[in-house]
Amino acid sequence: MAGGIGSRLQPLTHVTTKHLLPVGPYPMIYHPLYKLRQIGIRSIMIVTSRWNAGDMIRVLGSGSEMGVSITYRVQEEAGGIAQALALAEDFVNGGPVVVLLGDNIFYDHLGPFTEAFRQQKEGAKILLKQVSEPERYGIAELENGQIVSLAEKPSNPRSNYAVTGIYMYDSSVFDIIRKQKPSKRGELEITDVNREYLRRQSLTFDFLPNWWVDAGTHQSLLEANRLASTMDLQI
Ligand code: G1P
Repeated sequence: MAGGIGSRLQPLTHVTTKHLLPVGPYPMIYHPLYKLRQIGIRSIMIVTSRWNAGDMIRVLGSGSEMGVSITYRVQEEAGGIAQALALAEDFVNGGPVVVLLGDNIFYDHLGPFTEAFRQQKEGAKILLKQVSEPERYGIAELENGQIVSLAEKPSNPRSNYAVTGIYMYDSSVFDIIRKQKPSKRGELEITDVNREYLRRQSLTFDFLPNWWVDAGTHQSLLEANRLASTMDLQI
C-alpha cells in the first residue's frame, strides 16, 4: 500500500512520494517488496495515488530487476487503507492475501507468520509491537493473552501494543470492506476491518520480535534510516 500524499513528511514529499524517500541505501518501497519476495510472494500489486504513480513506475518498472512482477493500481482519493485494499479484489482472485503498508520498515522475516496463517485456513492475522507513542497507531487491548478490543489512534490508549501495517486476510475481507462505512475522518479504516474479524472470532495475532518502524514522520524516518542503514536487500 503506497497511497496517500505524505503530508506529515512535507516538505520532503514535495520532491517525490513518501514511499520513494531513502531508507538506508534503498527507496522506502524496496523494503516491503523485499519482505514479500523473501516469503516467496512474487506477484505483487502496488496501490498508489495518481500523483505518485509516475515516479513509482519509473523507479520499479515491471519489478523484473527485483525478481518480482508488479501490477499497479491507482487510488483516486485518500480514502483509507481498506479502500485501497478493495482495489486488489480481482488481483487476489479468491486466495489469501498479505497486505504490507509501504512505510512499515522492520527486521523480521515474515515466513513463520504467513505459515501460521496458512495453517489457520480462514480469518485474519495481525502482528503487534509494543510502542512508546500508542496514540499514533491502531492499538490492541489484550486480556489473558487475547485481543479484546481494537482502536484507531485512540486519545486514551488501553495498551501500548500497536497493530503493525502487516496484515493477512482470507478473501472474505472484500465482502467486509463492501459493507464498511467511512470513519469520522472520511476513510475506510483497516482497523474497522480487523474489528469485524475480531467480532467473528477469526482474528489471530502474533508479536513482531524485532524492531519495527512506521516511517511516516520525520523522526521515525530518521529512526528507520538508522536501523536499516546496514540492511542488504540483495537487489
Ligand atoms: C496505519 C493504520 C494503523 C496502524 C499503522 C501502522 O496508520 O491506520 O492502525 O497502526 O498504519 O503503521 P497510518 O500510519 O497510515 O496513519
